Amino acid sequence: MKKNEHWIPYVNLSKQFREEKKLLLPRIEKVLSSGMYVLSDEVSKFESQICKYHDVKFCISVNSGTDALILSLMSLGIKAGDEVITQANSYIGSAAAIHAVGAKPVFCDVYDDQTMNAEDMKSKINSRTKAIMPVHLTGRMCEMKKIMRIAKKKNIKVIEDCAQSIGSIYDKKKSGSIGDIGAFSTHPLKNLNACGDGGFIITNNKKLYNFIKLKRNHGHITREKVKFFGTVSRLDSIQAVILNFRLQKLENIINKRLRNASIYKKYLKNLNLYHPEDRLHCRDTYHLFVVQVKKRDDLKKFLFKNKIESNIHYPIPIHKQKIFKYKSPKLIKTEKQSREILSLPINQYLNEKDIKKVCSCIKFFFNN
Ligand SMILES: Cc1ncc(COP(=O)(O)O)c(C=O)c1O
Repeated sequence: MKKNEHWIPYVNLSKQFREEKKLLLPRIEKVLSSGMYVLSDEVSKFESQICKYHDVKFCISVNSGTDALILSLMSLGIKAGDEVITQANSYIGSAAAIHAVGAKPVFCDVYDDQTMNAEDMKSKINSRTKAIMPVHLTGRMCEMKKIMRIAKKKNIKVIEDCAQSIGSIYDKKKSGSIGDIGAFSTHPLKNLNACGDGGFIITNNKKLYNFIKLKRNHGHITREKVKFFGTVSRLDSIQAVILNFRLQKLENIINKRLRNASIYKKYLKNLNLYHPEDRLHCRDTYHLFVVQVKKRDDLKKFLFKNKIESNIHYPIPIHKQKIFKYKSPKLIKTEKQSREILSLPINQYLNEKDIKKVCSCIKFFFNN
């Protein structure tokens, strides 16, 4: 590699802010001067924009993706003694939400592309199974047709964990709009990102919507009266104004990530590494661009030496975390992938030259 080459960062939030500052700061200032910081018009506007974007009837914004999952589980009445089938190759938030309502996370294995193995999921259904939670990890949606067919047959609810998949499409439907309920994160690292924690839930079910809307706000039906005990899980107006602004740019961001992914695919051909192929019925949104490679840790170090930042999502599958107290069956693919996955930088601020540099570095690693 040449000397003085610039650093290729995994994310570039300060560049995002610099680019948006002129237009965004006056909007934030307007919210601050209005004094309306909680459940304001900006929050309602965000919820209706999200409904439009996803072509769904209802959206409730909340203060994190984890809370979005917890409130979704609560709305379906999931409680102690129940089981929810999900994936162990996710961020801890997925299983933590199941644990938070007192239920047991039951993990099924995944396919080569890291999505839920529907056959293994089916084999884990029993009389205690109350929900299935597919995780659309990396922005690649799980095989929802198979999952929904199984869930409907067994009369089990489906909560889509869409924390990484805003804008992803499966059979012409956006992620989160296929199951009973979809839970999203707007954490700063996500494709639609706030400047702090945030999230939202979408559904077409009015009953679930009514419950969650009250539950996120201490069960208030009026300022004085509450219907039941709830939580404080509201998205604040400052995050809402930022998200309203950024939602307009989301398709552009997705397109840049798709462009970067196609450059990777072009230049990483014929190397001894795996990355999933595109599927005709889907649009993956590349929250992450993950390759699977045998000498993953060596490659990561080599990239770093060459000023390229990469990441691992996630090095310890959830069933292998010490806090996980249940006995879990071996998850062969999940465990193998945890040793081989590497997320390459794909953020929207990288250009073709940057991606080519990453690819030539990987080629150099393989050839030497
Ligand atoms: C797959 C998945 N589920 C759930 C979450 C939790 O979201 P949050 O961090 O907003 O609570 C995340 C966040 O990274 C995630 O990636």
